[in-house]
Formats: sequence, C-alpha cells, structure tokens
Amino acid sequence: MAKDIILLGPPGAGKGTQAHLLEANHAMVQLSTGDMLRAAVKSGSDLGKKVQAVMDAGELVSDDLVSALIDDRLNQIGPDAGAIFDGYPRTEPQAHSLDELLEARGRKLDHVIELEVDEDALVDRITGRFTCAVCGEGYHDRYKLPKVENTCDECGSHEFKRRPDDNEETVRKRMAEYRAKTAPILPIYEKRGIVSRIDGMGGIEEVRAAIEKVLAD
Ligand code: AP5
Repeated sequence: MAKDIILLGPPGAGKGTQAHLLEANHAMVQLSTGDMLRAAVKSGSDLGKKVQAVMDAGELVSDDLVSALIDDRLNQIGPDAGAIFDGYPRTEPQAHSLDELLEARGRKLDHVIELEVDEDALVDRITGRFTCAVCGEGYHDRYKLPKVENTCDECGSHEFKRRPDDNEETVRKRMAEYRAKTAPILPIYEKRGIVSRIDGMGGIEEVRAAIEKVLAD
C-alpha cells in the first residue's frame, strides 16, 4: 500500500506545489481542503456562499465541514493509493477526526512533513502566485513563469487567475491562524515519531528531493 502523509506548513510554504509533484511520481492522490473549498465557492452552492467570506478574510472554516469533505474524498481513493493531506488537518479537532477517518478504513499516517519557511519570504511567494484558469497548473511571477509568455505549459491555455485571498493583509492573517491553531498540532505527531522537518526555503527541486528521501525511509 502507498503511504499516507500530511504536508504541513504555513501559507505559501509549497504544500500544493510538492503535492502535485508527488502525484506525478507516485501512486498518491492530493487531498487539498483549500481546493475543495474553492471548488464549492466557484459552484455557487449554499456551502460555497457560506465559506467564501471566511476564506476571503483568511480565517478557518469549521472543523466539521472540512472533515466531512475529507471523509467524502477518502471514499474515492482505492486502498492502493496513498493520500497526501494538503492543508488538512489545521486544528486539533481536525487532527483527531483524521485519525478516526483513517482508522475506519484500516489506514494510518506514515509521515508528517513540515516545510519550514521564513514568513516574509512567503508573502513574496504568495503575492506573486497565479494559476492556469483551465487546468490549474501553478506559476509565479518570478520563480516559475510559463515557458512561452502567457501560455500554460500544460494545456496551452492563455487564461490565468489569482486567488482573492492572496493579498498581503489576508496572507498575514492566514499566517497568524497557522501559528495559533495549526503549528500546535505538531506535538500530536511528534509523540508518534512520524514528523520530518524540511527546509522549505530551497528551490522547488531541492524540496522535492528532500521529501523523496523521507518517503524512502
Ligand atoms: P489553502 O488553499 O490550504 O491555502 P494555504 O494553506 O494558505 O496554502 P497555500 O495554497 O496558500 O500555499 P501552499 O503551501 O500550497 O504553497 P504553493 O505550493 O501554492 O487554504 C485557503 C483557505 O481555505 C484558508 O485560509 C481557510 O480559510 C480555508 N481552509 C483550507 N483548509 C482548511 C482547513 N483544513 N480548515 C479550515 N479552513 C481551511 O506555493 C506558493 C507559491 O510559491 C507558488 O507560486 C509556487 O510556484 C511558489 N513556490 C512553491 N515552492 C517554492 C520554492 N521552493 N521556491 C520558490 N517558489 C516556490
């Protein structure tokens, strides 16, 4: 069976970037609560309307809601695929829910990988981020531009978009939420001896190689 892992780190640490690379190279599936919530907002559903204001303010949506999303998504993953939890769990109640959801399926966490980063550099990373509006491939104004100007490397689209919560004020709020509510869940996993810390300030490829090393252990 492939491994189940959590990628932990503040906004812009590179969780989504690394999750996509892992998906491309392993039998692993990214479960990003941020992506699931953004899809709900885009659909215009009642759920989306409810969470949009919370996300735009950089605050956390309710524990029950995100755990229900993960519960549903785990049902779509076969036993042979590993899960990459990206942006979940973010609070202690979510960490306990995840344990229950995995146990109910005979799964367990193999690694919690914390990407350690410098917060000021993250503001620069996040405010420069944009994605392809069609396939979702991620780019950055300075660190990862499309190879051909204004053309997505993956699907050739010419449409790109930026997240409404990627402005400096909201990013600072998201970081404060991370420090107050998410970083404190690390001891839960430290007690189990499954935490690995990786320097997230290296290049994308360096970080990828460090994560591969953890997975090989
Ligand atoms: P979410 O979507 O999870 O956002 P986040 O945690 O703030 O993380 P980001 O997606 O901003 O950053 P990332 O670490 O994935 O970085 P990325 O790889 O894109 O959550 C958004 C909101 O949804 C929350 O604020 C909350 O409201 C709600 N929410 C979500 N989950 C929730 C939960 N469980 N509970 C409650 N509420 C929840 O990289 C950033 C940029 O840097 C990119 O441009 C990339 O190209 C570039 N980059 C990446 N790595 C490197 C590198 N090594 N060097 C240089 N550039 C790099």
